[in-house]
Amino acid sequence: MEKYWFTYEDIHSTIRDLAERIRQSGYDADAIVAIGSGGFIPARILRTYIKKPIFAVGIAYYDDENKPTDTPHKVQWVDEVERKLTGKRILLVDEVDDSRTTLEYCIRELLTHKPASVAVAVLHNKDKEKRGVIPPEVKLYLAGRELEDRWICYPWDALDIEEQNRQAHAAR
Ligand code: G4P
Ligand code: MG
Repeated sequence: MEKYWFTYEDIHSTIRDLAERIRQSGYDADAIVAIGSGGFIPARILRTYIKKPIFAVGIAYYDDENKPTDTPHKVQWVDEVERKLTGKRILLVDEVDDSRTTLEYCIRELLTHKPASVAVAVLHNKDKEKRGVIPPEVKLYLAGRELEDRWICYPWDALDIEEQNRQAHAAR
């Protein structure tokens, strides 16, 4: 099966368009919450267009002995979350909505901290059957691009960035 290949420029322009759609929706975020590590670079680019503080959270699918776990769990979470995010309009950012498990977990965790609202922005959404759900409390869900269920090669995972760019250009 063919893979998707993207350059940093592809990612940047997708996020610029995503930021414009967020603006048009009228959702005025107070804070960006980035799901690490895939969400970090997209969140930082988004901040170029939506100038709000970024909080980082980390989720893992492996335990302390590096054994896989069935459900995600927190490995890093916002310090003093309640004080920082309670009553705030949160924009949750990740790179890919794949199975949706991580997203659902993060949204439910954030909701326990009583934010004013939660919106979700992902760079890419895969068109597939999802294991997780976006809870109904979520005010807005936007994906930069809708993709088929294929493996996506992100530039930040590339050991050879020139080869990454060649693949991305060849796939056009
Ligand atoms: P979701 O709930 O947000 O849909 O994500 P899910 O837990 O299903 O994804 C599990 C991991 O697989 C995530 O990495 C996600 O980024 C990664 N992943 C899923 N599909 C792709 C893909 O097509 N390409 C790449 N490169 N990664 C994909 P993670 O455990 O959050 O690790 P990290 O890379 O964010 O640190
Ligand atoms: Mg991730």
